[in-house]
Amino acid sequence: MAAIEDIGIDLGSSNILVYARGKGIVLNEPSVLAVDHESRSVIAIGIEAYKMMGREPNNIEVVRPLQSGAIRDFDMLGIMLNHFVVMVIGKRVFSRPRAVLSISSTANELEKRQLILGMLEAGVRRTQLLSRPLAAAVGSGINVMPHVGHMIIDIGGANSHVAAIASGEIMTENTEIVGGDAFSDAIIRYVRLKHNLLIGTRTAEDIKCAIGTARNFGDADISLPIAGRNLVSGLPKQIDITRNEVTEAMEDPMRTMLEGIRGVIERLPPELANDVFDNGIMLTGGGAMLKGLQEVISDDIKLPCFTADDPQECVAAGCGYVLERMEEFGALLGDARRKK
Ligand SMILES: Nc1ncnc2c1ncn2[C@@H]1O[C@H](COP(=O)(O)OP(=O)(O)OP(=O)(O)O)[C@@H](O)[C@H]1O
Ligand SMILES: [Mg+2]
Repeated sequence: MAAIEDIGIDLGSSNILVYARGKGIVLNEPSVLAVDHESRSVIAIGIEAYKMMGREPNNIEVVRPLQSGAIRDFDMLGIMLNHFVVMVIGKRVFSRPRAVLSISSTANELEKRQLILGMLEAGVRRTQLLSRPLAAAVGSGINVMPHVGHMIIDIGGANSHVAAIASGEIMTENTEIVGGDAFSDAIIRYVRLKHNLLIGTRTAEDIKCAIGTARNFGDADISLPIAGRNLVSGLPKQIDITRNEVTEAMEDPMRTMLEGIRGVIERLPPELANDVFDNGIMLTGGGAMLKGLQEVISDDIKLPCFTADDPQECVAAGCGYVLERMEEFGALLGDARRKK
């Protein structure tokens, strides 16, 4: 990938995505590393580490340096970021690209500065930060600059970020709402209680993505064979799980997610509420790919909702578009002001 110049990066808790100027998304890998317990040396990064999750040998641990948007292991995060940036831009000696990076709004100033230094070490000349809802909005094709209100729900792994945006600023934001992982966790609990079967996180994710729906749409009989450990006999066991069961399993986190979203909308200032009523709400993030979620949210809040094309790519693409059209979007970079 020698010819790549400037890059946009979405440093998510579940996945890291990189957009290269003029090329589009060039990297999409899980934000995980496999690490040797004792020596702390890194065995694998990204997809290779993810494949080991749940079946790693005793001396190896698969770690997520970002959890629920917070940096849990700064050293590992730095190693992972360096690995992926060098993978995309190559080893640079003369030309040094620029980057726009989006990271959770909960990162503190020291952490942000250290990440920028890490980017410099990886060969990036200048890194600027873009807040996540603005990146998601730009990446989904919304023109965020005019004095018109828009609403974004970015459904990530651990959290969903709900934000109202106007005039290139975040007017109100809630980052505490549950994300897509809550559905997978609920599937694990349900299968354990109902079928006495212990399944791993990856199996639960696969079930959710393959047959999960936010509510029943009349095809509840579709089923998927899944295997795990029988909690009574201790032996491996296979069952068929139906779409109806998966929807039932996800009911609680679905209710929590809807309550969180409603809470933000109910507090919108009247003019913004009026704009959101006209423009509807844009869903982005990997969690927005859950079948039927758009309809369920729309029915609950009685407002039109749209799912962005390639929702998981919006934040990285938004960072990339800002780089490509600096004269138009440059004002979004740095410390975007917040109004509560
Ligand atoms: N096809 C699908 N159906 C349902 N959910 C999906 C699908 N594909 C991915 N997801 C879910 O999307 C979530 C990850 O989304 P995403 O990659 O946007 O998160 P992230 O940006 O890394 O997280 P965060 O923004 O919270 O830091 C996971 O919960 C994953 O299970
Ligand atoms: Mg994200």
